[in-house]
Amino acid sequence: MRELSMHILDIAQNSIVAGASFIEIVINENLKEDTLTIIIEDNGKGMSEEEVDMVISPFFTSRTTRKVGLGIPMFKASAEACDGAFKITSAKGKGTYVEAVFKHSHIDRVPIGNMPDTMIVLVSSDINIDFNYKHIINDKEYTLSTNEIKEVLGEVPINSMDVLEWIKSNIIEGAKELS
Ligand SMILES: Nc1ncnc2c1ncn2[C@@H]1O[C@H](COP(=O)(O)OP(=O)(O)O)[C@@H](O)[C@H]1O
Ligand SMILES: [Mg+2]
Repeated sequence: MRELSMHILDIAQNSIVAGASFIEIVINENLKEDTLTIIIEDNGKGMSEEEVDMVISPFFTSRTTRKVGLGIPMFKASAEACDGAFKITSAKGKGTYVEAVFKHSHIDRVPIGNMPDTMIVLVSSDINIDFNYKHIINDKEYTLSTNEIKEVLGEVPINSMDVLEWIKSNIIEGAKELS
């Protein structure tokens, strides 16, 4: 993948398919440790230990239309190609935690990419799913919580044009404040 945001979209879409009602996405850039960590955590249907082992190898998917699921193996490969690490922990009926660590300065580490648009796609894909999005750079932190936004919106749907535009510019402005 050319951008980390594409991996994030792919992994968060797994969470949506798994029936999650809450998905947390964290990008943590620690320049002192030279790491970039991505976490995607959900409260979806989860996987058994055996299923986790199988999805990590690229010859398993619960989909019947296609035999090979590649989202997770590709994310793992990207992290490991950047002196990083990858792990999934999951529990049936509870949820799934995916963590990929990259060496921040690694020559093959692709850019974060377009997180504003990625979050817009996710948030508008199902208005009943709540998202927490966090971007941390060293000691500064930006957070977007759809739950908090919905409280302010009242009856206004979170996928209305104006709200999505607001979310997008909030993420753009938030990212500026981090650097
Ligand atoms: N967050 C998740 N919760 C439950 N099951 C998951 C989750 N992520 C992945 N899976 C399971 O792992 C399989 C492989 O995922 P992935 O590698 O992204 O390929 P694909 O989405 O194309 O099947 C999925 O089909 C699903 O069965
Ligand atoms: Mg997938």
